[in-house]
Amino acid sequence: MQSFWKKLEKPILGLSPMDGVTDAPFRYMVAKTGKPKVGKPDVIFTEFVNVEGLSRGAARLLNILLYSEIERPIVAQLFGASSEDFYKATLMVCAMGFDGVDINMGCPANNVIKGGGGAALIKNPDLSKKIIQAVKYGVDDWANGKNLKSAGIDSEILKWIDNFNICSQASARKLLGVGVKTRLGYDSDISEEWVSFLSERNIDVISLHGRTLKQMYQGQADWDAVSKSAKIAHDAGKIMLGNGDIKSMGEAKEKCKIYGVDGALIGRATWGNPWFFDEKKTSVSKNEKLETLLEHALYFKKIFGEKHFSPLKKHIAHYVKNFDGACEIRQNLLALKNFDELEDALKKLIQK
Ligand SMILES: Cc1cc2nc3c(=O)[nH]c(=O)nc-3n(C[C@H](O)[C@H](O)[C@H](O)COP(=O)(O)O)c2cc1C
Repeated sequence: MQSFWKKLEKPILGLSPMDGVTDAPFRYMVAKTGKPKVGKPDVIFTEFVNVEGLSRGAARLLNILLYSEIERPIVAQLFGASSEDFYKATLMVCAMGFDGVDINMGCPANNVIKGGGGAALIKNPDLSKKIIQAVKYGVDDWANGKNLKSAGIDSEILKWIDNFNICSQASARKLLGVGVKTRLGYDSDISEEWVSFLSERNIDVISLHGRTLKQMYQGQADWDAVSKSAKIAHDAGKIMLGNGDIKSMGEAKEKCKIYGVDGALIGRATWGNPWFFDEKKTSVSKNEKLETLLEHALYFKKIFGEKHFSPLKKHIAHYVKNFDGACEIRQNLLALKNFDELEDALKKLIQK
């Protein structure tokens, strides 16, 4: 059995995982803009989700992993620092029908680092190795018929997954692709050594953001370092996706050629821009932005419910910019209190 990664046409241009942004409604909006290679990303990553929480039975965390069929191939990203919990969480995402699972070894957030996960794993190769092994065991065990109950997975989680699978076509016994998304290093660039280490592991793909943890998002991503790492990964037969500061599809394709990577992940340039992957879309009118925001908001309400209006606000701020009068409209929309008010306001603003 081959994972989906091997079947993708290069360059592989995907939606990068972003906590608080690549939620199910946003991913849906991005996926519905087209077909692969004509408007839609070649692969889509979820926000990251904590394995320790999943393992404890916090079923609400699985809402982060909701997805719809049009998002395929879809990769669930996991973070944490316990290999046992990674094993269980991997079985869960397998049972939910994901195409791939990705291990976060790049997050610079303090709360993640303090727990030993995210980019802290760059400083802990022994644990990184154990985690990768655990994820691989999870993927293989699932493909070989492992039963989730016998793996000690919490009953609330089992119920949630059963419910999800009633609504989707998930849960085939397929072999998921395994990847690691990481940075050049912790406080200095050790990418050649680190990527050599990762390339010896049993994974399909390495996604490399061209900054260290210490840099957070400052300065520019170092694509020369990404390029050197790509050679190392290729020698070991791994797929390498570069990441950092890409602003357009044209730039993404050019970077893949110049720096010899198999593809790229795009993050911030997609904010409020679900059309990013559609090269033909050179401009988006004010009306189209507002109509898309309305559709996004209605879908957001349908999935997460009336009470979850606040988390939508960052999307409102992302859509409502770069047109005449955007600043005032944005301020007004951000002052609203619920979905009904937003729907009314948008309907008045949208010109028929
Ligand atoms: C708000 C925000 C949330 C992010 N959340 C995640 C995450 O959950 N997992 C992850 O691997 N990277 C995460 N990232 C990093 C992005 O996936 C990406 O690596 C980074 O933004 C650089 O790419 P870009 O310049 O195209 O945005 C996040 C970045 C931002 C700005």
